[in-house]
Amino acid sequence: MQLEQKNVLVGVSGGIAAYKTPDLVRKLKAQGANVRVVLTESATHFVSSLSLQAVSGEKVSTHLLDEDAEAGMGHIELARWADIFLIAPATANIMAKLAHGLADDLLTTLYLATPAPVLIAPAMNQQMWAAPATTANFELLLSRGVTTIGPAAGEQACGDMGYGRMAEPAEIVEALCAHCEMYLNEAPRETILKGKRILITAGPTREAIDPVRYISNHSSGKMGFALAEQAKNLGAEVILVAGPVSLETPVGVTRYDVISAQQMLDTVEQHVDQADIFIACAAVADYKVARENAQKLKKSGDELTIAFTQNPDILKTVASRSNPPFTLGFAAETENVEEYARIKLNKKRLNMIAANDVSIPGLGFNSDRNALMIITKNTTHRLAPETKDALALSLLKIMHEEYTHLQEVR
Ligand code: PMT
Repeated sequence: MQLEQKNVLVGVSGGIAAYKTPDLVRKLKAQGANVRVVLTESATHFVSSLSLQAVSGEKVSTHLLDEDAEAGMGHIELARWADIFLIAPATANIMAKLAHGLADDLLTTLYLATPAPVLIAPAMNQQMWAAPATTANFELLLSRGVTTIGPAAGEQACGDMGYGRMAEPAEIVEALCAHCEMYLNEAPRETILKGKRILITAGPTREAIDPVRYISNHSSGKMGFALAEQAKNLGAEVILVAGPVSLETPVGVTRYDVISAQQMLDTVEQHVDQADIFIACAAVADYKVARENAQKLKKSGDELTIAFTQNPDILKTVASRSNPPFTLGFAAETENVEEYARIKLNKKRLNMIAANDVSIPGLGFNSDRNALMIITKNTTHRLAPETKDALALSLLKIMHEEYTHLQEVR
């Protein structure tokens, strides 16, 4: 019951995904939320207000100038009532209206009138999602503090494939719970990781070519630092081994800075004996230069060939220990995400792997948002695009369940 006594105002705009909203409302209610629903005129063509009234147990509002509603729960009152305003599905049209401050119906008026945090679950055809106008509206909304859940990729109602599917109701509720726990709950957080020692790697590694050049990757460290911060908030004792990044150390976290993969491995090995859980979020260079040049390489000829040799695999080294901690690895993929992640899970003999598609603009490397598929031998969880903080919290909760389950069966 993570939404106990939270007032969730659900705005439904007119897209095919609106048919999922009765299930969404049921799931919100199951988490203890008080739910009121507002439909746009076009949403009424996709879902009936009667079914939403039945599942929410509240009158559903559609019109701005509704005499009944004005008498009881006027739009200002409704805007004030909300602890959180969730717009699902959010069509391209509604996102455009929100971005530009149009208020020609109840839903858009509520967006302007509510002081509550706003979350949107975009849903539209993939071409519409990729349209520059939609991208600009989306970014404007994000820059004004709107949080987005999804959209997800996959087959669409129109037969197209790509980004634009509304996140599933379960994913939306999960993201909403994480959001509430992080930003709205005054009550102390759950401390499910109290007494656990967690070792986390984050950021890129740099492999020197000569004294002034190196090879590296686009990792900013944000995902790993978010995990460190959320694990600390959940009560864990956290050691963070960070590659070269420019991020503040989360309060209460012990941090060790390293540059190369070998240094990262050495530092991990110094601390892994005390760790209950090892999370490998760092983007470690698979290869290093075979022979580092002591002096700056001089320009010579049109081509330059540099020989590389494999770096040690830190995660595999930890998971192969005789008494390993619980191991959660990451998989950064640009294709066949699930298949390649499963191969890594098995090959490296991990307890869990969190896979991300790093080919999607705005997610993964060096962004504030990400989406994850979390895989164990027997389970798969999909976490829709969200802020890295919210994702880290959801991931740690799923990890904790699996960790506890493994302790029980041992
Ligand atoms: O740092 P951000 O900008 O926030 O971006 C986040 C992220 C995309 C870097 C992160 O979410 C992520 O995917 N991290 C793993 C990146 C990676 O190197 O993935 P991989 O599929 O190449 O490696 C698989 C796993 O083995 C990873 O857990 C990695 O840490 C580990 N590994 C890899 C090579 C190596 N030599 N040693 C390792 O420990």
